Amino acid sequence: MKTLKEFLQEAGENGSAVGHFNISNLVQLKGVIMACKKANLPVMIGTSEGEADFIGMRTARHLIDAAKVETGLPIFLNADHFHSFLKAKEAIDVGYDSVLIDCSKKPYRENLEETKKVVQYAKVKNPDISVEGELGYLVTESSKIYKEAVTIPPESLTKPEEALKYVEETGVDRFAPAVGNLHGIAANKPQLDFELIKKLRAVLPQDVTLVMHGGSGIPDEQMKEAIELGFNNIHVSTEIRIAYMDALRKMLGAAPEETTPYKIYKPVVEAISQKVSEKLELFGSINEI
Ligand code: G3H
Ligand code: ZN
Repeated sequence: MKTLKEFLQEAGENGSAVGHFNISNLVQLKGVIMACKKANLPVMIGTSEGEADFIGMRTARHLIDAAKVETGLPIFLNADHFHSFLKAKEAIDVGYDSVLIDCSKKPYRENLEETKKVVQYAKVKNPDISVEGELGYLVTESSKIYKEAVTIPPESLTKPEEALKYVEETGVDRFAPAVGNLHGIAANKPQLDFELIKKLRAVLPQDVTLVMHGGSGIPDEQMKEAIELGFNNIHVSTEIRIAYMDALRKMLGAAPEETTPYKIYKPVVEAISQKVSEKLELFGSINEI
């Protein structure tokens, strides 16, 4: 089976993106996998530190292993926004396929050193473990819906020359920059900085995948352009959580006496699957497994 790096490289060659969706329970996982199975596509499943604490890292590993056997799909488990070497090490030791070590809010040197340590640890353990680093920072949080407009301070954006040094020194496989993207959904429409994206793609080694965080709320046209310009891995969480909660509220409203979990959650799984299918189509994911 192809490695995650190979799938991401292929996405780069054919101008598409591999989707990354966050989960913290079986309902979300089922919804995501249902959509990927229909589209016959590889996928990354992410657990943030909070999500991993809830579901359990070992449980997440076993669920993904079972889903791989049941569907025959390549499914890669990512430790998403893990904030320290120790947390990242825990995920690697449990058998995660991938880690995003996110020290983006720390000073540059500290971020670089912590990220490098994770790369070195991961690669000794298994060279196929894919490590992502983040430089520049996103000013908002995932899953929040902001009632006010959010302004992005210029100092939070990634600087291309600094990005190159960071990528070369750390040895990361994937790189998450700040280019006008936001976690969560803001009241104002986000505006990606396409000039900055072009500069980043031009300056960084081709085998380093650009990762778009904050995939929720980015207008489709902007997302398509970002993929064309070289983002080959897109993270989406908030829109999936909204689909989940909307469907759940609707179900509970329609059948307040219902007590059977698998009946209550059926429309929730379907709503998640529908949302993920829309995203996969947008990402033009035409990888062949
Ligand atoms: O790592 C997670 C993503 O960046 C999710 O962002 O909640 O804005 O879709 P989002
Ligand atoms: Zn993110």
